[in-house]
Amino acid sequence: MSKATFDPTCYNTSTNTDFQTLLERRLGRRALIRRIGAIGGLAAMSDFVLTGCVKRTLEDPVGAQLGFESVAGSRTHAAVVPEGYHASVLAPWGAPLNDLAAEFKSDGTNTALDQANALGQHHDGLRYFPLNGSSKDGLLCINHEFLDLYLLHGGSLSVNELGLRDSSEQARKEIHAHGVTVVRITEQDGVWRTVDNDPHNRRITGASEIRLSGPVAGAATVTRFSPDGSITRGTLANCGNGYTPWGTYLTCEEHWPSYFINNSVETRSQAQNRHGIGSFSTRYSWQELATSDDQRDGEFARFDISPTAEAPELDYRNEAAGYGYVVELDPYNPFALPVKRTALGRFRHESCAPGVARAGEPIVFYSAHDGNFEYVYKYVSKALWQSEDADPVDRLAVGDKYMDDGTLYVARFNEDGTGTWLAFDPATPTLADPTNERPASTLGEEFADVAAMLLCAPLVADRVGGTPLDRPEWCAVDPRTGAVYLSLTGNSQRSEFAVEPQFRPNAANPREYNVNGHILRWQETADVSSFHWDVFVFGAPSDESLAVNLSALTDANQFAGPDGLSFDERGILWIQTDSSGSAVTADTNDQMLAVVPSGLRSKGDSAVIDDSNQANLRRFFVGPTGCEVTGFATTPDHTTVFCNVQHPGNWPFAEDATVETPAGMSITPRSATVAIRKFDGGKVGE
Ligand code: FEO
Ligand code: CA
Ligand code: CA
Repeated sequence: MSKATFDPTCYNTSTNTDFQTLLERRLGRRALIRRIGAIGGLAAMSDFVLTGCVKRTLEDPVGAQLGFESVAGSRTHAAVVPEGYHASVLAPWGAPLNDLAAEFKSDGTNTALDQANALGQHHDGLRYFPLNGSSKDGLLCINHEFLDLYLLHGGSLSVNELGLRDSSEQARKEIHAHGVTVVRITEQDGVWRTVDNDPHNRRITGASEIRLSGPVAGAATVTRFSPDGSITRGTLANCGNGYTPWGTYLTCEEHWPSYFINNSVETRSQAQNRHGIGSFSTRYSWQELATSDDQRDGEFARFDISPTAEAPELDYRNEAAGYGYVVELDPYNPFALPVKRTALGRFRHESCAPGVARAGEPIVFYSAHDGNFEYVYKYVSKALWQSEDADPVDRLAVGDKYMDDGTLYVARFNEDGTGTWLAFDPATPTLADPTNERPASTLGEEFADVAAMLLCAPLVADRVGGTPLDRPEWCAVDPRTGAVYLSLTGNSQRSEFAVEPQFRPNAANPREYNVNGHILRWQETADVSSFHWDVFVFGAPSDESLAVNLSALTDANQFAGPDGLSFDERGILWIQTDSSGSAVTADTNDQMLAVVPSGLRSKGDSAVIDDSNQANLRRFFVGPTGCEVTGFATTPDHTTVFCNVQHPGNWPFAEDATVETPAGMSITPRSATVAIRKFDGGKVGE
């Protein structure tokens, strides 16, 4: 979600914490370390850092060495890559996947049918799935997060005399522009192209049938369309992504509440309020077409979840309960229904990162909730990983095994560098709420069962005392060490003057009015309920004071608004930004940086970014003006890296992504994937 359209409302109204402000102590320590010229790494902060890291390190922990020079910041309608690299535009919005779609028309006159058979809008999460292990022939899965209605319809939004939406055709086109694309791509002579009409090519849109699975599926998800609650229609707000060790793609439903409305005050639930489902309007007003003559099977009426009938199987009161999940799809099987994995909880999922799969241990996924003062969660499977499941015939059946039965936890970041995972379990204690005199109790006292907890995960997190974070975005797991990284894109509402202590600066969110963001890191311990954490890097303008620029960033790597976060198998961490609101935007458009965290060492332990190791955090890519950079993928041999340029302002002008749109020329901007390669065909980044 672009910062420009982000809903900044704080839906966390919890009052139950005794979390204390420790800003001065923590910042005093970091500043002191820099002043005395010591290596500001984990060794120097050994009381709260990754003591488990070395112990859990896998083979060859150091990983790759970066081999490119940091590129300068840029503010042009062009992409920028390091010397020796080229970047090409691939799979832009509206490009046909098959012959059912007409060619893209820049005046917005493509039809809903065209859009259902073409690339969606506003590309986000991304992953490459090789065919037969190839690095020249594979499937690209691309998320499509939200819309620019002006572009989609060429400036001709259809409304009636009351200003209400009146075109089913337009609404269908909008619904089809969301979701996921699966498209086959091949490389020849260094140039990637999409393969038209390939049988794998597929769109999953806001209207596609999707199976509901896990504890919530059933009574809570019964609708007129699905009287047994087993099926829902569509996936929306597909932001970050993930993948599984068994070869499937995960797409995450992020700002889904804004697509639904319940304007019936007496039926609004506590969960609907906590999620932020609206009372007055929805993002694209599709529900206004509920009475249109050509509506099919409640396709628009379903977005109004006010009860209208006597029973849930007669209306759409439960439609929104089918949204807010991690959705699994098998890119290799175009006929398999995707599956919503409710065991991973219902919230505004940014992304979903698997932990390192080890035989005989549970499968773990990390996923954060994008919102000011929201939380990060961990799912731990009940089934233990069996290596033979890595290459199954029926991938989604393996998903059923590992993703439908497990335990969800929310993180509490303690001030001393330790952390606690709080389980969604009836026996977990809840905190007292001093303002309404709700006494301390257990989750079992308040929630009927685990399904009820999963259905409103943020409310559970409030009750058990998770740590509200500065707008958590993507998670990524270092394949070399198992350490987990979490981008916090920023939170300008964090204030010393907040009434509630948990909304003031604290150890994990130490900066007031945090417009620049930071990246947290943790390492699990042998106990499933505990971890050790640190702040890996703070975003900041390079010319800010050391009280703000805590990681001593320079012009070569200043960034703000960390959002997309991905590791590749070499241990390179790719950091992508959505930085509007920060002073960094005066010097550069949004960007993608690279660093090899496992290569940063301080006396043998993992180090954080500081003034001693600046050269290791390098700017690799700068996007065109107006865009955010998001979504990362690489071929298995690492000779191509893909990323997405979302909502550019006046780009792409040419197939070469680095060609600037000529001054004075306006083109129809299109989100697109960018394929980045070395001219010599070598490994990208090294
Ligand atoms: Fe869709 Fe939180 O970015
Ligand atoms: Ca974003
Ligand atoms: Ca994002």
